[in-house]
Amino acid sequence: MICSAVVPVAGIGTRLLPLTKSQPKELLPVGRKPVIQHVVEELKSAGLRNVVFVTAKRKTAIENHFDRDPELIHSLEGNGKSGLVPLIDFDDLGLELFYTRQQRQKGLGHAVGFAEAFAAGRPFVLALGDTIIRSAQPPSVITRLMNCFERKNASCVVALQEVPKKDVVRYGIAKPVAGENDDVFELADLIEKPSVESAPSNLAIAARYVFSADIFDAIARTQPGAGGEIQLTDAIRLLLKEGGKVYGVRMSPADQRYDIGTFESYFKCFADYALADDECGERLRKYLKQKL
Ligand code: UTP
Repeated sequence: MICSAVVPVAGIGTRLLPLTKSQPKELLPVGRKPVIQHVVEELKSAGLRNVVFVTAKRKTAIENHFDRDPELIHSLEGNGKSGLVPLIDFDDLGLELFYTRQQRQKGLGHAVGFAEAFAAGRPFVLALGDTIIRSAQPPSVITRLMNCFERKNASCVVALQEVPKKDVVRYGIAKPVAGENDDVFELADLIEKPSVESAPSNLAIAARYVFSADIFDAIARTQPGAGGEIQLTDAIRLLLKEGGKVYGVRMSPADQRYDIGTFESYFKCFADYALADDECGERLRKYLKQKL
C-alpha cells in the first residue's frame, strides 16, 4: 500500500514575478485557502499518511503555514473565536509532514532526488505543489494512479490531460504504445515540449505521478537537459529505456487541473474557487455580471 507523497515546492516561480519575489507561489490564495493546502487535502483524501515537501530558501512560510501555532489558538479561544481554530490547526488532518531542502534550483528531477531517504525504497506519489487537481466524482486522479501502479506492477504512472494541439509545445507529451483510446495505457516514450508537428499525441503530463523507488537511481544518472536542469521526464525515459513499465492514466472531463504557474491560469483558478464560495460566491457572480 502506498502511503507517502513527495511535494516539490522549491521552484523559483519566475513566471509569477514580482508576486513570488518573497512569497511562495504555493501560498497564493485560491478561494479561502492557499494553493498548497488544497494539494495537501487532495493527498489526504487519497488516503496518504506521510508527506515530504522539497522546499528551499524563500519558502519557509510554507512550513509556518502548517505549523501548530499555540499562541494564535490560545488567543482565538480567549476571544470567543474558538470556531476558527479548526481552520488553522492541521493536527487533525492526520498527516505527518516532513521537510527537506533543495539547495539550488536545478530542476524538478533534481528536487525529487532529495526525497530518496524519505521514500526508503518504497513507492510514492509525486504531486507538484503548484497544481491543484479537483475531481467532481471519485475516485480522484491520485487514487486512479495508485490503483494502476499496483495492478500493473509499474515503475511509473503519470496522469495525462488532453490539451489543444497548439499547446503541446508547453508540456511533456506522452507517446502511447498502441492506441490511446483507453483510460489506462502503456507508454512507449515521453517527449518534453515537442513541436506541434512532431508531437506523438496531445496528452500532457499533468502534475501527478506514482513512482517506484527505482526513479532515484535514474535521476542520479540523468544529465542536465533542457534549460540546464535535471528533467524528471528524462529520468522517466531512462526507466523506459531500461525496461521499466510506464503507464498513463487519462484524466476525465470531471477532473479539473489548475496549474498556478502563470498569471492567466492563476486568475482563472482563483475566479472558479471564489465563485464557488458558499458565502460570497453568489454576490461575486452578480458583481461580475454587472461589470461584464
Ligand atoms: P516549474 O516548472 O513551474 O518551475 O516547476 P518554477 O521554478 O516553479 O516556476 P518558473 O518556471 O520559474 O515560473 C514545477 C514544479 O517543480 C518544482 C516547483 O516548485 C513546482 O512545483 N521545482 C521546480 C522544484 O521544486 N525545484 C526546481 O528546481 C524546479
